[in-house]
Amino acid sequence: MSNKNIVWHDHHVTKEERASIKIQKPCILWFTGLSGSGKSTIANAVEVKLNELQRHTYLLDGDNIRMGLNMGLGFSDEDRIENIRRIGEVSKLFVDAGTLVLTAFISPFQKERDAVRALVEADEFIEVFIDTPLEVCESRDPKGLYKKARTGEIPNFTGISSPYEGPEKPEIHIKNDKISIEDVTQQIIDYLQDRGYLHA
Ligand code: ADX
Repeated sequence: MSNKNIVWHDHHVTKEERASIKIQKPCILWFTGLSGSGKSTIANAVEVKLNELQRHTYLLDGDNIRMGLNMGLGFSDEDRIENIRRIGEVSKLFVDAGTLVLTAFISPFQKERDAVRALVEADEFIEVFIDTPLEVCESRDPKGLYKKARTGEIPNFTGISSPYEGPEKPEIHIKNDKISIEDVTQQIIDYLQDRGYLHA
């Protein structure tokens, strides 16, 4: 809800000034994909690599954010939309702080991912589609949730009883059933390096 008694204050230190002492160009690496697709694993591996390269990062991860900032939100369409809206706003703040932000959320709807994209500059949002077939995610079932979804114990489960809209034009498309974690990580680091996000 907007409030006419609230006034936006411009900060004295700019995003560019914050980023320049970190020697990097801030952005959001927005990982999207089914539960069990490998988003968190890959995002963690990329963050480790960026940290080794002495870059300033922060990883926002689905399950952890739902234990704090987004505690109380469930998995109805409405709650997922609010989940992603808040993550988008937080990610924007991290970009403003000059950080390389990595987010790992199913984020099943194109419209909400596009809304986050629209919050930042055109080259500050990098959509990374972790494209793992449902059968593969379900056979991995790292948290035993697909099993519960199939029996109806968990309602509205993405890919089973709730939709997942794959990105139409992701900047990075990873087919994650036949590629090593090292290769995926390198592909993402190369993308950042080639486009000047990690300038020396
Ligand atoms: S999102 O759809 O709102 O983006 P988010 O990434 O935050 O989802 O949370 C997904 C994680 O919550 C899954 O990896 C899984 O561990 C857990 N989870 C619990 N219930 C569900 C459900 N109904 N659908 C999908 N994931 C669920």
